[in-house]
Amino acid sequence: MWFINLVRSSIGKKFVMAVSGLLLVLFLCTHIFGNATIYLSSHAFQSYADALHSLPILVFLFSVSLLVLFSAHISVGLLLFLENRKVSTSRYAVNVNIVDEKKSIAARTMPYTGGFILLFLLVHIAGFTFPTEGVPISETVKEQLSGFFTSIFYLAAFAALALHLSHGFWSMLQTFGVNHPRYNGLIEKLTYIVPVFFLIAFGGIPLYFMTGLGASY
Ligand code: HEM
Repeated sequence: MWFINLVRSSIGKKFVMAVSGLLLVLFLCTHIFGNATIYLSSHAFQSYADALHSLPILVFLFSVSLLVLFSAHISVGLLLFLENRKVSTSRYAVNVNIVDEKKSIAARTMPYTGGFILLFLLVHIAGFTFPTEGVPISETVKEQLSGFFTSIFYLAAFAALALHLSHGFWSMLQTFGVNHPRYNGLIEKLTYIVPVFFLIAFGGIPLYFMTGLGASY
């Protein structure tokens, strides 16, 4: 199968990670665009969710595509992690560790931040994609994110997401060959701007409810 052949090579694995990572960042853009209506009112958010669910075929295709993307990103990421671990415990371990020393915290913690994001996704989907029957999604969001521990968990997950993106975004650009002395300054800035944007935009929502600012939502 073409996918198996692709992930057999090192560059193939990097390519799968970069393409799936880019598409997942695009998903995050659409997700924050819809979720930002929470800051307007519960009515605005409910209208957005209702409009989305009035197109069930589109929602279904979107969900299946997301499942495929997350599965590819997680399984190939796991393969890379296991391969790197195998190399670092081999007789070349000393050399590899010297290279590892030079890696940023974000690069070294990629498998762990990734694992935490996966845990977040399982909790998040269980709570929001399958909410209590008859309760509007706008109320479910308020009810869950007003809880102190749920909000702290969400904030910790968004911090992990920001760290994951700061290395992932840079790595993706390297795989696509976006590396030019003229643009490297901008690329460096983007590796901070993109994760900080998502951290503030997503993180603001639990903070909005936690601090009571969203009391009249
Ligand atoms: C406070 C921030 C967030 C809020 C309020 C939020 C809200 C929601 C809601 C209400 C749904 C259900 C949509 C529906 O079926 O009507 C949902 C689904 C989902 N969310 Fe979030 N979300 C947040 C952050 C995130 C983040 C950071 C990620 C990714 C890392 C994420 C990934 C997903 C996924 C994968 C789904 C399932 C989509 C599908 O079923 O097609 N969410 N979210």
